[in-house]
Amino acid sequence: MLRLHDKYFEPFISATDIDRSVERLARQISSDFPGEVPIFVVVLNGAFMFASDFLKKYPRNCKISFVKLASYQGTSSSGQVKHLIGLEENVEGQTVIVLEDVIDTGNTLVEIHRIFSGMNVKKIRVATLFYKPEAYKQSFPVDYVGMKLPERFVVGYGLDYDGLGRNLPEIYQLKERNMINLVLFGKPGAGKGTQAVFLKEKYNLVHISTGDVFRYNIKGETELGKLAKQYIDRGELVPDEVTINMLQAEVDKNQGAEGFIFDGFPRTTAQADALDQLLKAKGMSVSATIALEADDEVLIGRLLERGKLSGRSDDQDESKIRFRFEEYNQKTAPLIDYYKKRGKFFSVNGIGSIEEITTRLSEVIEKLDTAVNK
Ligand code: IMP
Ligand code: MG
Repeated sequence: MLRLHDKYFEPFISATDIDRSVERLARQISSDFPGEVPIFVVVLNGAFMFASDFLKKYPRNCKISFVKLASYQGTSSSGQVKHLIGLEENVEGQTVIVLEDVIDTGNTLVEIHRIFSGMNVKKIRVATLFYKPEAYKQSFPVDYVGMKLPERFVVGYGLDYDGLGRNLPEIYQLKERNMINLVLFGKPGAGKGTQAVFLKEKYNLVHISTGDVFRYNIKGETELGKLAKQYIDRGELVPDEVTINMLQAEVDKNQGAEGFIFDGFPRTTAQADALDQLLKAKGMSVSATIALEADDEVLIGRLLERGKLSGRSDDQDESKIRFRFEEYNQKTAPLIDYYKKRGKFFSVNGIGSIEEITTRLSEVIEKLDTAVNK
């Protein structure tokens, strides 16, 4: 385990595997340009280590030059490429081979093509040690690739996280944070709200109920709140995108949290996908979804009791209650499969005293593998 600033990394690609890729690239490129003396343009800072090893293995004559560009901030591309050192050589009529450490979104590559566009080069080729095909958004060809990487943040062998990690001889990947992120399921009356209060205390979690988040945003007249209100006022469902943006803002507001309880979200598999994406982008994931199970008849008894006290009309009418159960059965069933497939679905008996049920939930939570990085 490796720590850089606030983040944890684990070994991903060994120095031996890197060396093999570099060797292969050197052989491949030299055999493609037999009678030429290409000029290798190294993109600093990241490519310094790759370039050094590559050029030592390059068996023919070549020239070497450097440009210095920067686009990353933290663990994601800023979308803006800064030009720090330009090219000094005259490359007119020459074969230019750009040496990159990693091609991610491709923004840097666009900038590189811009640099050479007015220089009348004979040809330009791009060689990168690492390439993230899923992240690449441009159409320029990536001619030589050492290794393809998943869309994941890595450090080492020239690549950094905010200035650190460049000197490591192997590649490390960002480790998911050690968090307890729960999705609570349950029919109306199952005790989700009650249990969330206890779990949040016990495990120091942030409870996000989408209903509450909507009310909070609407009340605070935030941009998102105003947007949501338009739909609600028209009697329409708030689109997933709006809900997701709200959730995202809530998660962002609680950066240091040890975990979250999601309550009332996701309700569809599309929303479950969106939640996965949202969390993944932050190095997080759903640890478990837990359904609080209880017999319809017991729940109806509870709700009718609650209706008497609260005066909530939808809790006083048995046919309305049954309709809500039906809705739950229809909509959550696919979600159960969704999480079962990922080994993340748990079900807990929701009949008993509040403490008994908290204990049952805790037994599930404490057995979860929430990744040890602290
Ligand atoms: P692009 O412009 O999005 O293609 O990104 C290229 C630049 O982003 C690289 O030269 C690196 O500086 C940086 N970068 C991309 N992915 C990573 C990574 O996983 N770790 C560290 N830096 C990265
Ligand atoms: Mg770079």
